[in-house]
Amino acid sequence: MSDTFERLERLNREAELGGGEERIQKQHDRGKYTARERIEMLLDPGTFNEVDKLKTHRCTDFGMEDNKIPGDGVVTGYGEIDGRTIYVFAQDFTVFGGSLSQAYAEKICKIMDLAMETGSPLIGLNDSGGARIQEGVNSLAGYADIFDRNVAASGVIPQISAIMGPCAGGAVYSPALTDFICMVEDTSYMFITGPDVVETVTSEKVSKEELGGPRIHNEKSGVSHFQSADEEECIAQVRELLSFIPSNNTDDPPVTPTDDPVDRADESLTDLVPEDPSKPYDMTELISTVADDQHFFEVQSEWAKNIVVGFVRLDGRPVGVVANQPSHLAGCLDIDASVKGARFVRFCDSFNIPLLTFVDVPGFLPGVDQEYGGIIRQGAKLLYAFSEATVPKITLITRKAYGGAYDVMSSKHIGADINYAFPTAEVAVMGPDGAVNIVFREELDEADDTEAKKEELVEEYRETFANPFRVAELGYIDEVIKPEHTREKLVRALDALETKRAENPPKKHGNIPL
Ligand code: HXC
Repeated sequence: MSDTFERLERLNREAELGGGEERIQKQHDRGKYTARERIEMLLDPGTFNEVDKLKTHRCTDFGMEDNKIPGDGVVTGYGEIDGRTIYVFAQDFTVFGGSLSQAYAEKICKIMDLAMETGSPLIGLNDSGGARIQEGVNSLAGYADIFDRNVAASGVIPQISAIMGPCAGGAVYSPALTDFICMVEDTSYMFITGPDVVETVTSEKVSKEELGGPRIHNEKSGVSHFQSADEEECIAQVRELLSFIPSNNTDDPPVTPTDDPVDRADESLTDLVPEDPSKPYDMTELISTVADDQHFFEVQSEWAKNIVVGFVRLDGRPVGVVANQPSHLAGCLDIDASVKGARFVRFCDSFNIPLLTFVDVPGFLPGVDQEYGGIIRQGAKLLYAFSEATVPKITLITRKAYGGAYDVMSSKHIGADINYAFPTAEVAVMGPDGAVNIVFREELDEADDTEAKKEELVEEYRETFANPFRVAELGYIDEVIKPEHTREKLVRALDALETKRAENPPKKHGNIPL
C-alpha cells in the first residue's frame, strides 16, 4: 500500500515539475509564469481541482516512448472565480514547448465537454509551440477536435482565451473561435505563418512583434480584445470580464449590488454635448457618468475607435454598451466599426446581456477604400446583429442620427424597445449642409447672394428635421429626456424590460453577411 502511495507522490511531483527546474527558470527569466502559477492566480484560492494530471502521450516515434512527463504539457481542471464554477486549461511551455499531442488534446476536450454539460465558462491560457511535430497528423486531428468543440460551445458557454506566449499556425483558430482574446505585452504573439515564412513567400521582413504582437492585434487587426502590461493584469482582466457574463446562455448575468443611487442626476451631462454639431466630445465620458460607480469596462478600446463597446452595470445589472465616438472620425461607421459593433452585439444577445446604444453618427464613412472593402456587406453585419438581437434594447440619441446609420444604430424600426433622445438630437436623412445643396440646387443657383440664401435654407432645414421633436411626434422616439436624468431613465427602462421575452422565427441559422 505504501508503495502505491509513494508512487502517487512521485508521479504528482513529476507532473508538478513539468519540464524541470531549468525550463521553469527560463520561463520566469522571460517574465512568464508557469501553467500552474497562472491557474493559481486566476482562480479563487484553493479551488482548483486538476483532471488528468497523470495522463501521458502515446507517441512511439523519434524515441518519444522514453520521454514522457505526467500531464503531457497541459494542466486542465475546474475551480471557481468569484464563487462560480469555471473550467480551465493552461498550456505548459516547459513540457515539449507546450506543443499539442493527441493525448493533450483529449485532456482539453474532456474539460470542454464537462464545461458544456454543466453550463460553465471555459478559460484557456495559451503558451505553445503548436502541433507536436513528433505526432504528425494525430496532433492536427487533436486540434480539429478542439475547434469542433469551440464551435459547438459558441453561444452556449462563454469562452475566453488568454495568450501568454507563442500561438502560431492553425493553433490560432481555437482562440479565434472563442468570445474574447486577451494578449500580454512583450511575451505573446499570434500569427498564421511566422516571420521566416512571410519573408520566403512575400519578401517582407518583419519581426514577430510587428507581425502578430499584442499591439498589432489590438490596434490593427481587431483579433484581440484586451492588451495587458503583464500576466497579472491579463488575469485580472479575465476575472473582471467574467463578472459581467452569465455562466451559460440560459442563465442571467450576475447582479452586483451597488450603493450608487438610481436617481443620481448629473448636471455635467447638460454641457457634455456641444451646441456646435461639428464639435467633438468624448462619448466614454457619458457612458462612465451614467454607469454604476462611474465604471466602464471597455472592450477593444484600441481598434476601430469610432465605435465604443464594453460593459457597465446599471443598478447592479450588467449591460452591453455600443456607442458612436464623435471624437474619432466624427463617429462615422466604417468597415472595422461595423464588424466590431456587430460581434459585440451578437455576444451580448447570446448571453442575455441587455444592450444600451448611444447614438451620435453622421453616417457611413464615404470613400473608395470603404466601398472596395465591402462597406455594404460589412455595415450590414451591424444592422443584422441589432435587428436579430432579442435581449432588451435601449437607445439614446445624443446628437446626430443621420441616414442609414440612424436605422442601423438600434433604431425603433429594427426592434429597439425604448428609444430616448436628448434635446440636442438631430434625426434626418443627411446633415443640413448636404441636404440643402441637393434639394435646393436651383434656388441656390438663382439666388443673388448664394451664401445668405444657403444660410437661410440650412436654418429652415434644421428647424424642420434637425431636432428630436419630429421623430417624437412620429413615435420613433419614446421620450426626449434631459441629459442630467439619463442614469435614472436608463435604469427605469431596464427595470421595465427585465421580463422581456422575444424570439426570432425558428430556423437552422440565419445567413449573416460574412
Ligand atoms: C515539439 C516543440 C515544438 C513543437 C517547440 N518544441 N515547439 N516540440 N513540437 N511544435 C520544443 C523544443 O524542441 C524545445 O525543446 C522546447 O519546446 C522549447 O523550444 P525552443 O525552440 O527552445 O523555445 P524558443 O526559443 O522560445 O522558441 C519557441 C518557438 C519555437 C518559437 C515556439 O520552439 C518554434 O518555432 N517551434 C516550432 C513552432 C512550429 O512550427 N510549430 C508547428 C506550427 S504548425 P527542449 O527539449 O530543447 O526544451 C501548427 C499547425 C497547427 O501548429 C495546425 C492546427 C490545425
